Amino acid sequence: MPLQVIVGAQWGDEGKGRIVDWFAAQVDFTARYNGGDNAGHTVTVGRQIFKLHLIPSGIIHPQVVAVLGNGMVINPARLLDEMESLRKVGIAVTPQRLHISHAAHLITPAHQALDGALEAARGKDSLGTTGRGIGPAYTDKATRRGLRMADLLRPDFDERLAEAIAEANQTLNMLGAPALDPAAAGAEYRQYTRKLAEYIADVSSELDAALKAGKAVLAEGAQGTLLDIDHGTYPFVTSSSTVAPGALAGLGLGLTAARDARVTGVVKAFQTRVGSGPFPTELSGDLAVRLRGTGANPWDEYGTTTGRPRRVGWLDGVLLRYAVRVNGLTELAVTKMDILSGLKTVKLCSAYRDGGKTFADLPFGPSDLSPYEPLYEELPGWEADISDVRKWDRLPSAARNYLEHISAAAGVPVRLVSVGPERDQIILAP
Ligand code: GDP
Ligand code: IMO
Ligand code: MG
Repeated sequence: MPLQVIVGAQWGDEGKGRIVDWFAAQVDFTARYNGGDNAGHTVTVGRQIFKLHLIPSGIIHPQVVAVLGNGMVINPARLLDEMESLRKVGIAVTPQRLHISHAAHLITPAHQALDGALEAARGKDSLGTTGRGIGPAYTDKATRRGLRMADLLRPDFDERLAEAIAEANQTLNMLGAPALDPAAAGAEYRQYTRKLAEYIADVSSELDAALKAGKAVLAEGAQGTLLDIDHGTYPFVTSSSTVAPGALAGLGLGLTAARDARVTGVVKAFQTRVGSGPFPTELSGDLAVRLRGTGANPWDEYGTTTGRPRRVGWLDGVLLRYAVRVNGLTELAVTKMDILSGLKTVKLCSAYRDGGKTFADLPFGPSDLSPYEPLYEELPGWEADISDVRKWDRLPSAARNYLEHISAAAGVPVRLVSVGPERDQIILAP
C-alpha cells in the first residue's frame, strides 16, 4: 500500500483514532499532519483506553514509527505528558520511533492565554474553541512570528520566547487578561529543549524515502472536513488544513506521493459537533439524549479533550458528498452503527431546501448553511444489538440498507463498519 490518508468527514470525533488503530496493524509509519492537542483520539484495546492528543494513534502498534508533521502546532508540555503516560502503559516512546518535524510550530503559554482571552472577548459570539492555543499559534505562523521545533535548539531561544511573550502581553493587556512572565516561560521551555532535542527530525525526507522504498505510510487527520480553515463552516472552524490534501503540505510530501493514495473518510452513522456553528440536521429533546448518551459509557458523546457534551443530529448526506469531493475520498469507514440499534426509523438528509428550490449539493460551500432546511429519507431501523456482529451478512437487512444508502449518497463505497469501540468490533463490507 502506498500512502493512505484517514480523515474525518464531519465535524471531528468521527472515530478516526479507532479506525487508524485498525489499519495501523499493517503499516510502517503513522503521521499526524495538522492541528495540535485540540484533537482527542480514542483507541480501545481490551480494558485499556488510550486517549491521544498529539501523538498519532498508530503508536500503539509496536512496529510503527510515529511522526508529528510540520503542519502541526505542538505544546511541548502536553507532548511530554502524553509521551510519559504512554510509557507508563508499556508503549515504547523513544527517539527511534517518534519523530517530530523541525518545522512544526510551538505553542507557547502566550498562545493559550490569548485563546482564552479572545474567546472571552467574543462573548456570546465565541467559537467554542478547545482553549489549547491553536488559533493564536497558527496566527503567529501565518504572520511569520512563530517559533518552531528547530528553534528550541538555538542558543537564543530563551530570548526569542521572552520577546514573543512580551509582545503577546500587549494584546493580553488590551483584552483585560493578566500578563505572563517572560522569564518564567524561558525557564520552563529550557527543560523541554533537553527532553525533546533527540526527537526532532527531518520527517519530510524520511517519509519520502519510506514511500520510495515501498513502505506503508498512514496519515492521520485531526478534526474533520467541516472544521477545515478553507473548506469548513467558516468562521466556526479550527485554524489548520484538516482535509486529506493537507496531509501532503503538512508532512512535506510532494503531489506525486498521493498517486494511488487510499483516502478513507471516517463517518459517524449520525452527526455530531462540539462548539459553535451551523448544524442543519441537529436534533434536540429525547432523540438527542438517546444519540448522545448520558455519559455513562466511555463512547457517549462528550468531548475527549474538553468533556463538553456534543451536539447531535442525523447524518447529513449533502455535507458528506461535499466531504467526498474536497478530500478525494476513495472509501468510507462508518462508525457507531451500534448506537442506532433499537430506533424504529433512521433518517438521512439527502438534500436541502431553500424556499422553492431543492439542492442536492451545496451551491456555495458550507459556510452559510442558515437558509437551508434539510430534506430526509426515512429508512427502517433495526432492533437487534449488532455489537457482536463481525460479518456483513449477519447485519440486520435494515442496517445493510442504511449503509447502502450512505454509500449511494456519498458516491463511494463503505468499506469498514464499526459496531463498537473495541479493536475487533469491525465488519469488512463486501
Ligand atoms: P476521533 O476524534 O475521531 O478519534 O474520535 P473520538 O475518539 O474523539 O470519539 C469517538 C468515540 O467513539 C470514542 O469514545 C471511541 O472509543 C468511540 N467509538 C468509535 N467507534 C465506535 C463504534 O463503532 N461504536 C461505539 N459505541 N463507540 C465507538
Ligand atoms: P478530533 O481530532 C471535534 C472544534 C472546537 C471548536 C473549533 C475550534 O478529536 O476530531 P480550536 O481549539 O481548534 O481552535 O477550536 O473546532 N474542534 C474539534 N471538534 N473534534 C476535534 O478534534 C476538534 N478540534 C477542534 O470544538 O468548535
Ligand atoms: Mg476526538
